[in-house]
Amino acid sequence: MSKIIHVVGARPNFVKLAPVVNAIYENTYWTQSIIHTGQHYDKSMSKTFFNELHIPNPDYNLNIGSTSHAEQTGRMMIELGAVIKYINPELVMVYGDVNSTLAAAMVCAKMGVLLAHVEAGLRSHDMRMPEEINRILTDRVSDILFTHCLEADTNLIAEGVNEDNIHFVGNVIIDTIVKHEDEINFTKIKNLVPEHGYALATLHRPSNVDDDNYLRLIMDTLDKISRRIPIIFPAHPRTTKRLKEIKYSPTHSNVVIIKPVTYLQSLSLQKYAKFVITDSGGMQEETTFLGIPCITVRENTERSITIEKGTNVLVDRMPYKIERAVDKILSNARTISSLPTLWDGHASERIVKKLRQYI
Ligand code: UD1
Repeated sequence: MSKIIHVVGARPNFVKLAPVVNAIYENTYWTQSIIHTGQHYDKSMSKTFFNELHIPNPDYNLNIGSTSHAEQTGRMMIELGAVIKYINPELVMVYGDVNSTLAAAMVCAKMGVLLAHVEAGLRSHDMRMPEEINRILTDRVSDILFTHCLEADTNLIAEGVNEDNIHFVGNVIIDTIVKHEDEINFTKIKNLVPEHGYALATLHRPSNVDDDNYLRLIMDTLDKISRRIPIIFPAHPRTTKRLKEIKYSPTHSNVVIIKPVTYLQSLSLQKYAKFVITDSGGMQEETTFLGIPCITVRENTERSITIEKGTNVLVDRMPYKIERAVDKILSNARTISSLPTLWDGHASERIVKKLRQYI
């Protein structure tokens, strides 16, 4: 019987793992093991995702935790090497672009284990982002590359990846949303939001939160916007820590900072928001599916499909551009005409079908 290992570690991985692991259970007799690196370890960043999305408990938790990127990735590689050798799988699957993804990919490449990458081929063309490094290196050593938009195929082909190994299957995040559509509702968030409308904000990328002056500037901007519409801000642990360090206290109480929310709460918050301000990759895609305007506080995005579809705008990390985007949204509500191809809730089934060609 074929043995598969899934390696995950951080919040955005779990959302992508859920539909794939369940589609494999439903359609095959393959044996699966989940290795959690422990990159994210707070209950709100990990365990609640496994519970809510019905992901089986990890078979191994490496408890690596937070440290420098080099040490974190290195320690993951050492531990993953031992477990992968012990299980001796036919295939390892990795997801997205976090440090856990890269660590597993490098171990498989060195050990000669067949490696599949879900969400391959996305490129921001910005090597200052740790995720861009992770994406490029993971794709370079992957044997099977599952893509979620045709632009990703084009990127991979331009980098010399053999076309036979690239499979355009669609977006597994959308599978998760579609599966839980009935649970994305106002009841989930009624205690978190004001009655008469709100905007949602999340920021956690080092480029936005690590510099004191920039973080102050961006929080002042949110503060200003919140005088027009209340802002609900579920803060990543890194952001909470940084806000404490800069002694942030809102001059206007309408920026409401709350603890990280569960995945279904996050989707519900997005669904009922007037707009979303974020630097998250996943939320750019989720708002596209939900048809909610998204303002992305970055200079670039690897998810340009969301801009093409009209839900997402980039504001170059410029406060005046954020305010201008808000003006535009509040004066004329936008909707999208169509969803990206194969963002239909069946990506994980297509992944299983393709995997049959390999194992
Ligand atoms: C990681 C991913 C990023 C993704 C994000 C989603 C990399 C390089 N980055 O960034 O692409 O968008 O996850 O959340 O892999 N922390 C806790 N508890 C936790 C996890 C983190 O307190 O459970 C704090 C720690 O102070 C840690 C900091 O958050 O130092 C950053 O965590 P880390 O895993 O290094 O990266 P993220 O910023 O979460």
